[in-house]
Amino acid sequence: MNGNIDTMQQRMKLQWTKIERKTEKILGEIGSRSPHVASSGQYDDMRLDWWTSGFWPGLLWILHDVTGKEIYRSAAWDWDFKLEQAFARKNNFHHDVGFQFLPTAVMKYKLTGDEEARRRALFAANFLSGRFNMQGRFLRAWNQDKTGWAIIDSMMNLPLLLWAAEETSDPRFRQIACAHADTVLRHFIREDGSVYHIVAFDPDTGEVDEYLGGQGYAPQSSWSRGQVWALYGMAVAYRFTGDIRYLRAAQRVAHYFISCLPADRVPHWDFRTPNPSNEPRDTSAASCAASGLLELAAMLPAEEGRIYRTVAIDIAFSLGERYALLDDLDRHGLLREGTGNKPDGQNVNVSLIYGDYFYVETVAKLLGWQGKVF
Ligand code: GLY
Repeated sequence: MNGNIDTMQQRMKLQWTKIERKTEKILGEIGSRSPHVASSGQYDDMRLDWWTSGFWPGLLWILHDVTGKEIYRSAAWDWDFKLEQAFARKNNFHHDVGFQFLPTAVMKYKLTGDEEARRRALFAANFLSGRFNMQGRFLRAWNQDKTGWAIIDSMMNLPLLLWAAEETSDPRFRQIACAHADTVLRHFIREDGSVYHIVAFDPDTGEVDEYLGGQGYAPQSSWSRGQVWALYGMAVAYRFTGDIRYLRAAQRVAHYFISCLPADRVPHWDFRTPNPSNEPRDTSAASCAASGLLELAAMLPAEEGRIYRTVAIDIAFSLGERYALLDDLDRHGLLREGTGNKPDGQNVNVSLIYGDYFYVETVAKLLGWQGKVF
């Protein structure tokens, strides 16, 4: 057993060393850009109100926390300020402010005690709370005409509210987060552990109007990254609240997810397409699943958590040894074969910054990092 652990640690340490080298190379080349997708070897510069703008600085904060290196800290430092500046202009921020402010403002505050970062994080938590639909008891997704839509991704935004409740001792943040999580239990997670991407509610009555396929193949299909947002988000909701229903939901989704994995443990972009094995992979679903499974395992007795930890390690090995770009210093990205939005034909078979982020989070956890971003 100890031999296995030592081998795992050695393999992870090797991946970590290469992650540091590659990240420093990318950092030197992209400067202050906000990377989202690398489709032809170069990370792009996405606008700051896009949902992915927290992942690169979050990845840098984790690297700083693990290594103590100043290069990562100084590159990550300004991001919560830049997000606030973007908020002050005409913008399209929405439900995903958790993805943006947890790895920036909240992480910076936790690591440095910076009061301005705390203020910005609480501002974002208030903004997110303001999106609560009282009749339907859900956090509204997106803007414009989508007044009654809710999406599974928001499970990963709830930790911003749960953190704010603890930070301010104001239970309203937790009440809203739990009300949304309860709606997800009721309307998003199916009996078999699979999950809807979008539920459209009547914004006045709160009744379900319809289920939408969103980034999945079809309304009744099973978008792999969506399954992971539910798995990881429910596990974190349990960590903050101790509500056993959230833990059991995370386990149910995890069992379904694990049962759908192909032999190399890296999922296709949707588990319910006519011929999944011919479909593109989504390495971002894999890396996020690995980190979420480690979260789940850590909250259970060792014997009960072992299955989740074992699968997480298998995924990490597969990503690092089959799907990583760690030895290719000429192309940006840590992982290849991410799928952003297959139905729209956007960002298929590319490096995605959130895939890279959750890969770093996973390897850091497997090397003993105890920090929490989500
Ligand atoms: N939150 C959007 C996505 O997972 O692509």
